[in-house]
Amino acid sequence: MGIDVRTVEWTGGGLRLLDQTVLPDRVEYRVIEDVDALVDAIRRLVVRGAPALGVAGAFGVAVALRQAAREGWDAAALDAAVTRVREARPTAVNLAAGVDRVLPFAPKGAEAVAAEAQALLEEDVRGNRAIGRHGADWILGRSPDRPLRVLTHCNAGALATAGWGTALGVVRELHDRGRVELVYVDETRPLLQGARLTAWELARAGIPCAVQADGAAPSTVLRGLADVAVIGADRIAANGDTANKIGSVGVALACTAAGIPLVVAAPWSTVDLALPDGGGIPIEERPAAEVLGFGRIRTAPDGVGAFNPAFDVTPARLVTALVTETGVLEVSAGTTPDRAAPR
Ligand code: MRU
Repeated sequence: MGIDVRTVEWTGGGLRLLDQTVLPDRVEYRVIEDVDALVDAIRRLVVRGAPALGVAGAFGVAVALRQAAREGWDAAALDAAVTRVREARPTAVNLAAGVDRVLPFAPKGAEAVAAEAQALLEEDVRGNRAIGRHGADWILGRSPDRPLRVLTHCNAGALATAGWGTALGVVRELHDRGRVELVYVDETRPLLQGARLTAWELARAGIPCAVQADGAAPSTVLRGLADVAVIGADRIAANGDTANKIGSVGVALACTAAGIPLVVAAPWSTVDLALPDGGGIPIEERPAAEVLGFGRIRTAPDGVGAFNPAFDVTPARLVTALVTETGVLEVSAGTTPDRAAPR
């Protein structure tokens, strides 16, 4: 699995989520018994990361069906509850896709839906392993013959998926092949998915890493301190424009300027072929308090407003390679998802 804890799990009692808001201090789980609790968990980032959101959304339909049976909901109330789960966060296409994947099983009941969600979970882990292998092959085919310095942003690891990870799956595979010298981990303001989550995963895996301020990343790349950057994605448009955690664009611009590859690692379920380009990707704006302070401590003066987009869109021309479970697309060279999608 990549880590010895499970991000999302269906137990006899229902849906169990690893609470990522309290990592790395504590390993705690939340049992989700109703739709309100699930929507709240998704919005507060108890569960987060595009593929993990997809799996949680799929199990969320089973949660809604159980609640409907318990509380005697009619069809309209069930529909409204499922829509709330589907729309709890807007950017990662996997959340809606996970819900949509299991909906045809709803007439058969909660356990049939949970079984399909479990199939999605297992596919995700298998897909991540394949992404890791394809990504490592591609990177090593173009790199100096020595251990590499890899830069990553946010958390696209086992915690962000059903297990193993996408971008961190590539890093884990490179490490298993003895080819990682150091991983530069962007801290990922404002919620610190890099410093809290990626660094936790890498430390547990024994992979050397250094956390750096987000503002350091372009300079690290331009100084020649990184050989490659590997990031995940929340939604990829048909032309390869890629939404990922805010700050990814700065990394991408620096990689292009320095002539090192920017590798996006993501499953096909993150590709949204209905969107011709990134202009149509909805960008979540999160509460002001996240950027007006640090942790629970307010740092900005009273009365000051905030702009807090959670994601940015890297133009396809800056994406050197997109690694999926089926192989590698050299996006900036013209192999865009719409040309290469599996049929
Ligand atoms: O706001 P988050 O923590 O859900 O953002 C997560 C990311 O941006 C990840 O990089 C992305 O979802 C890929 S996860 C494999």
